[in-house]
Amino acid sequence: MTLANFVLFVHIVAATIWIGGQITIALVVATLRGNPELIRLVARRFERVAWTAYAVLVITGIINVSNIGVAWTQLGQTAHGRLLIDKLGLVLISGLAAAIHSFIQAPRRREAAPGRSFSAASAVLGGITLLSALGAALYGVVIANS
Ligand code: HEM
Repeated sequence: MTLANFVLFVHIVAATIWIGGQITIALVVATLRGNPELIRLVARRFERVAWTAYAVLVITGIINVSNIGVAWTQLGQTAHGRLLIDKLGLVLISGLAAAIHSFIQAPRRREAAPGRSFSAASAVLGGITLLSALGAALYGVVIANS
């Protein structure tokens, strides 16, 4: 077992938390519908875990890049580099959608309609977060196997 193996292992565990967490929280929110207080409590705890996982993904991802020998200055010039550019686009979309939901859309909705436990905007942003993270994971597998 090399250090690179361990970093990749941590990267994969963080990906399972980021992706699996989105699925779990969606199911929990659907189950707790009608109980906005409880949803808020669970969501707040979940957010801490999810953002930690995202930070770990970025840090271990940067180490993975150097471990597979891709130079940041020549991303467009190698097959690995081009796959990485696509993957990073998806990582950015996933993080941005989650950030808009966590820090802008959900707090505003909470203020405007404290008694409501469902919002279509939250579902759309959650869907974008999950799908783009799945895409990033698929690109990760392709990069690792090419
Ligand atoms: C939503 C965020 C992310 C998810 C879900 C994700 C997921 C994954 C997965 C599942 C793998 C496959 C590992 C394998 O098959 O062995 C992987 C590999 C990889 N990821 Fe990520 N990743 C994310 C973010 C990042 C970031 C931000 C970077 C770079 C800064 C990155 C760089 C890499 C690289 C270079 C590999 C290949 C490593 C190797 O072949 O040794 N990832 N990723």
